[in-house]
Amino acid sequence: MAVEKTLVILKPDAMERGIVGEIISMIEKKTFKITYMAIKNLTDEDLEYHYAEHKDKPFFPSLASYMKRGPVVVMVVEGENAIKGFRKLTGATDPMEADNGSIRGRFALTKDENIVHASDSPESAQRESDFFVKNIKA
Ligand code: PPS
Repeated sequence: MAVEKTLVILKPDAMERGIVGEIISMIEKKTFKITYMAIKNLTDEDLEYHYAEHKDKPFFPSLASYMKRGPVVVMVVEGENAIKGFRKLTGATDPMEADNGSIRGRFALTKDENIVHASDSPESAQRESDFFVKNIKA
């Protein structure tokens, strides 16, 4: 199996609720390595780039306003099969359908505020990591 990198965002509610440390602990216990971490405040332009494929969906305005509500934690996470593996650790988009042991299963109740984002493919992981690590000022 190949070592991969994936881009993870702990969303504003993770910061507001003081559960960033617990989530990082879950990530480390799963033996992933965090190789980049920064606290950032996202802009409309950042979110239009990051969620480009969703920007015409009805939920985009509320998603953007949630993601701008406060600072987020951006991470690059590495490990064997990290892209698929981290999506499993993230849990389903709707927390009511997420595994109990996943981050969303443990901490989130609604699709609108689901705590964490993780890249969904190698192409997204590359595109999102390049954007967040190189282009966005903290
Ligand atoms: S879709 O329509 O099936 O492609 O969407 P999905 O992959 O499930 O989700 C895309 C991102 O939008 C977020 N999302 C929402 N935000 C707010 N409200 C609603 N109703 C909603 N539905 C989906 C979802 O969490 C995804 O964001 P990330 O950051 O990748 O989790």
